[in-house]
Amino acid sequence: MITSCYCYTKLRSCFLLSSRRSVLSNLVLYQNRRIPPRKFSSRAVVKSPILKMGTPVNDYECMFGKEIFKTVTMLQIGAPGADSLRDVAAIMKEVTVEHFSTFAQRNEEILQYQNARGDPGLIEELSKFLTNDIYREPVDSDDLYINNGASAGVWDLLMRYLLPGDTVFVEDPSYKAIVPRLQESEFNLVGVPMDEEGMRMDRLEEKLAQTKMRTPSERFPFTAVVYLVPVFHNPTTKNMSAERQRRLVDLARKYDLLVISDDVYNLLCYRSPESNDPETARPPKRLFAFDDKKDPAYKGNVVSSGTFSKFLGPGLRLGWYEFPPRMQKWHRSHYVFDSGAGKNPYSGALVGLALKKGLVQQHVKNTRVMYAERIKACHDIILSTVGKLGVKCHLPDGGAFLWIELPGSTTSSQVLEASKASVRFLPGHLASPTGSFKNCIRICITWYETKELLAGVKDLCGYIEQVVRK
Ligand SMILES: Cc1ncc(COP(=O)(O)O)c(C=O)c1O
Repeated sequence: MITSCYCYTKLRSCFLLSSRRSVLSNLVLYQNRRIPPRKFSSRAVVKSPILKMGTPVNDYECMFGKEIFKTVTMLQIGAPGADSLRDVAAIMKEVTVEHFSTFAQRNEEILQYQNARGDPGLIEELSKFLTNDIYREPVDSDDLYINNGASAGVWDLLMRYLLPGDTVFVEDPSYKAIVPRLQESEFNLVGVPMDEEGMRMDRLEEKLAQTKMRTPSERFPFTAVVYLVPVFHNPTTKNMSAERQRRLVDLARKYDLLVISDDVYNLLCYRSPESNDPETARPPKRLFAFDDKKDPAYKGNVVSSGTFSKFLGPGLRLGWYEFPPRMQKWHRSHYVFDSGAGKNPYSGALVGLALKKGLVQQHVKNTRVMYAERIKACHDIILSTVGKLGVKCHLPDGGAFLWIELPGSTTSSQVLEASKASVRFLPGHLASPTGSFKNCIRICITWYETKELLAGVKDLCGYIEQVVRK
């Protein structure tokens, strides 16, 4: 069930809410074009638990009422859909019952403060799962720290390791929820262009040379952060090449950079050079593994940030870091881990049990098969309907998105306008620190069941055609 609360937390990051600026520009769009106001009954607004919670409500938060889902196709939502979450609910029910029926002492433990690293059972099972089923290269359980998911995990790192005025380099475009947050933060946000091989290292090097950075100290050992999504990138779906990843590790060592690799989509892999089978395909090697501990120049500059949100459920609020050894020591003394102790012992232990029983592994396989079919079907529709008009869309080997590039001077805002905002998507420029990519559209394939999704994508293509042919 989609609760209003759920919608609040997730949709807050969707495009209409992703920044004050975007909200305002959408308002202008509506007003100029006399698009009728959205159909939200006052009943839906009054019923919203957000109101009851006393949270300020604006026009956009009213969208969190269920009405919107009946009238608008939401291709922007980057979350698992109800069909997938129903299966996760069954898994969680099974392990909850089993846990509380059997392991008496553990019942108390998982309700208690925990060690800084998180549930030991989960850490053990997670390292086996990532090593054997996903990456097929060693993931050392000693490097794993459980956290509350990638958003909180990444933000905690920025708070812990940066000082006001320090620079955060991101891909242009980058993850749409972090861009406006960094723009309004006390950090200096710098976008680095991408190409087919991911973030351009020549441009990063140029920007590093132009950026004033402080001298590293024991307490603040990194001079700046590079935040990126190297595998199945959000929003462009590209993968960073192995050569670029090696180069980035070299630069990180040279300039004492902290590289935060947001590895949230790696597990959603549908094809790889060795396998066309989504059950067995192996994602590209993660950046963390390029910062090889056996290297004579090794210092430990890369953190991998993982999450259970994309292949189980965001409501678990569960993710993990893979930390280099030197960061483990610093992190244990971080206030959040020290005072708050381990993150999410309760969900952590239950997911650990689900991993031990092989339930997560099976769910991941099923999800990959389902998403692989969906993404291919959406891609086929796009190419067969608007491909001939010069619309470009690459079929990615994994991830949750398709990135659509409109031809000529066509913009995503024109498409939104043509649909009278009845088909929503992420306009590319909202993910760009420089406001570029106005001709790009990101759609997500995970939220709707296949039939509804394909109908929504057909509608979208119809509006694209209408605008391009004008
Ligand atoms: C790149 C990226 N990072 C982080 C997140 C959020 O992850 P979590 O739910 O673990 O906070 C998302 C989800 O949309 C994402 O696309």
